[in-house]
Amino acid sequence: MSGAPGTPKIPYGGDYNPEQWPAEVADADHRLFTKAGVDTLTVGVFAWSLLQPAEDVYDFEVLDRILDRAAAEGRRVVLATGTAAVPPWLARRYPEVNRTDFEGRRHGYGQRHNFCPGSPAYRRLSTALADRVAERYAGHPALLAWHINNEYGGACYCGLCADAFRDWLRDKYGTLDALNDAWWTTFWSHRYTDWAEIEPPSALTEHWRGPDHTAFQGITLDYHRFMTDALLGCFLAEKEAIRAHSASTPVTTNFMGLFRPLDYHRWAPHLDFASWDSYPPLDAPPTVPALAHDLMRGLKDGAPFWLMEQTPSTTACRDVNPLRRPGELRLASWQAVAHGADAVLYFQMRASRGACEKYHGAVIGHAGRDDTRVFREVAALGRELAELGPATLGARTPARTALLFDWDSWWALEISDGPSRLVKYPDVVHAYYRAARAAGADVDVVPVTADLSAYDVVLAPVLHLVKGDLAERLEAVAERGGTVVTSFLSGRGDEHDRAFLTDVPGPLGALTGVRVDEWDSRPADVTNPVRLGEGESGLEAAGRLVFEIVTPLGVAEPVGTYTSDFYAGSPAVTRNRFGRRGGEGWYVATRLDDAGTEWVVRRVLDRHGLVGPYAEHAGVETAHRVAPDGRTLLFLLNHTTDPVELTAHATGTDLLTGKRTGRGDPLALDPLGVAVLRLE
Ligand code: GLA
Ligand code: ZN
Repeated sequence: MSGAPGTPKIPYGGDYNPEQWPAEVADADHRLFTKAGVDTLTVGVFAWSLLQPAEDVYDFEVLDRILDRAAAEGRRVVLATGTAAVPPWLARRYPEVNRTDFEGRRHGYGQRHNFCPGSPAYRRLSTALADRVAERYAGHPALLAWHINNEYGGACYCGLCADAFRDWLRDKYGTLDALNDAWWTTFWSHRYTDWAEIEPPSALTEHWRGPDHTAFQGITLDYHRFMTDALLGCFLAEKEAIRAHSASTPVTTNFMGLFRPLDYHRWAPHLDFASWDSYPPLDAPPTVPALAHDLMRGLKDGAPFWLMEQTPSTTACRDVNPLRRPGELRLASWQAVAHGADAVLYFQMRASRGACEKYHGAVIGHAGRDDTRVFREVAALGRELAELGPATLGARTPARTALLFDWDSWWALEISDGPSRLVKYPDVVHAYYRAARAAGADVDVVPVTADLSAYDVVLAPVLHLVKGDLAERLEAVAERGGTVVTSFLSGRGDEHDRAFLTDVPGPLGALTGVRVDEWDSRPADVTNPVRLGEGESGLEAAGRLVFEIVTPLGVAEPVGTYTSDFYAGSPAVTRNRFGRRGGEGWYVATRLDDAGTEWVVRRVLDRHGLVGPYAEHAGVETAHRVAPDGRTLLFLLNHTTDPVELTAHATGTDLLTGKRTGRGDPLALDPLGVAVLRLE
C-alpha cells in the first residue's frame, strides 16, 4: 500500500481534542465545523492517559464517542496511535522510559516526545496501544488514515541506547577493524578492542561545548544515524501492529520539514505518504516554508504530501508570536497546495483551556465564537477548497531543476572543527533554492541517492560529503548537457567524514575542473567583493564566511573574481565545460550574498530555458503541478501587499474564479492574492 488516502477534495480541518471538554461542547464544535467546511479531524494524538489509565486497563469510551460522532456528521478521521506522550503511571513504573539527556541526566516524568527509543517497556506498551487502537477502529467508517506518534525527534544517551548503538555498529561494520578505520581511531589513541568500550558521544564523552563540538566526527555522525534508526524502529513496531488489523489504510507520521535531528530520507520508504507541520517564523521569506514543502514532496519521489498542521493565526512557543495578517493564512495554504500538498490541516480546531498551548491559535477560541476574523478566514478558505473539488489531487510537479539535500552533509558540516562554525547548511541551501525560485523554476528537493536523469540543472551547494557513486551521477548530468552547480565546502569527506586523499573538491574535481589548496574563513562582518561577469550584465556581489582559493584546471574559466586581499583577481566562481553535449560544472568558492547567488543561478537556469515568464515580478511566486488528467495547473501567488498586474503568458482558466484569461491579456492579482490557472 502506498500513497495518500483517496478523497473527493482536499481534506480540510485539523487536530481536535474533544477529550479535553465536556460532551456538550462537541455539539457546538460540529456545528462550527460544518460552517467552516471542515471535513477532516486528527484525533487521539495525546490521549494515552485516558485510553489506558493503568497498565491492564484500557478505556476507549472517549475515542468511540469522537469517531462515532465524526462519522455521524460525515467527517473523516486521521487517527493517532497516541504514543507521543506517555502517561504518568508508565514513567513511574518503568523509569527506563524517561530519556537520559546529552549531559547524562536521567529525566523524571514530564512534557512529551521524551521516551527512550531503546526502552523495552516503551516499545511493548506503545505497540500494545497501537495494536488495540487499530483492532478497534480499523473498520470504522470515519477512519481515513493512521497517524503514528507525533513529531518524532531528539536523542537519548542511556545505557539501553548505548547497548543498542553497539549492536547497530556491529551490524553496520561487522568488525572492529572496519569501525576503527571508519572513525580514524588512531587519532588520540582511540583504537577500540572490544565493542563494549564504545560510548555514545555526549557531553560526558567525546563532546565539549555542546552537541556540535565533537572530537570524532565519525562517531557523532553514526550516533545521529543510529538515533534516526532507533526512533524509526519505534515507528515501524507501531506500523506493524496497525497492519495486523488494517491492511490498506495509509499510514503516516507528521514530520517537521528541515529538522536536523532525524534523517527523514531514511524514514521515507516506510511511510505510505509524507506529512508535515509548517510553522515558519512569520517574518521568514515565503521561500522558507516553500523549501520545506519541496523537501517533504521529495521524500516520496514527488508524490503529494499532506500539510498536517499549521496555525490559523499564531503560535505560542516562541518569545514573540506574530499574528497571521488578514489574507496570509489563505496565501500560505495555497502555497502548500502549489508545492504538492493534498491536504490543508490546522493545529488546532479548538484552543485548549490550560497548559502551555492555551494561547496557541485555534479555529475556535475559548469563547467558542464563529464571528471572529480568524474563523471567517478559515470558513472562507473552506468554501474555496470545497468549490475547487478534486482538481489538484494527485498532481505532480514537473521540475527540471533539482536541489540536493543531504542530512549527512548537514550534520558533518555543522559538527566540523574548521573551516568555519558560521556556515549553516540550511542557510546556504535556502539561498540557492530561493535564487532558483525567484527565477521562476520549479525545484525538486531530493536526496543524493535520487535518480537525476530527469533534470537539466542540479544544484548541490555545501555538498560536504560525497558518498557512493554520486560524483559519477553528477558527471552524467553534465555529460547529457545539463549543468551542475556546487560550492565551497563541498566534496570534503566520504561517508565517514574522512578527507579524500586528493585535491579539494575530491570526487567533484573532474566535473568542476578546479583545485582548492587553501581556504580563508573570516568573521561574519568581513566581506570580499566578488566581481561577477562583465559590463552591463555583470554585478559586484559580496562574498562572506569562507573564501576558497581556486586554481582552475584545464578548461574551467572564471565567471567571478575576488577583488581584495592577497587572492584578489583569483576566481571566486568558475564554470567548466564537461562532456560533449555542452554540459557544465560550476563551482562557487565563497558564500555569495543573495544578489550574487541569484546572478549565478539565473545564468545557469537561463542556459536551459528555465527562467519563468514572471521572473521579473519579485514577490510573485509561481509553481506548476500536472494533474493526473495531464493538464497543467499554474499557481500564481502574490506575496506582496500591493496589487500586481501581469501579462498572461498562456491561456488558462482560474479555478478559483472561473475567469478565463487569454495569452497576452492582463492578469491581475490582489494583494496577497492567488490564482490557480488551468492552462490550455
Ligand atoms: C506541533 C505539535 C502539536 C502542537 C503544535 C503547536 O506541531 O505536533 O501538538 O504542539 O506543534 O504549534
Ligand atoms: Zn535511551
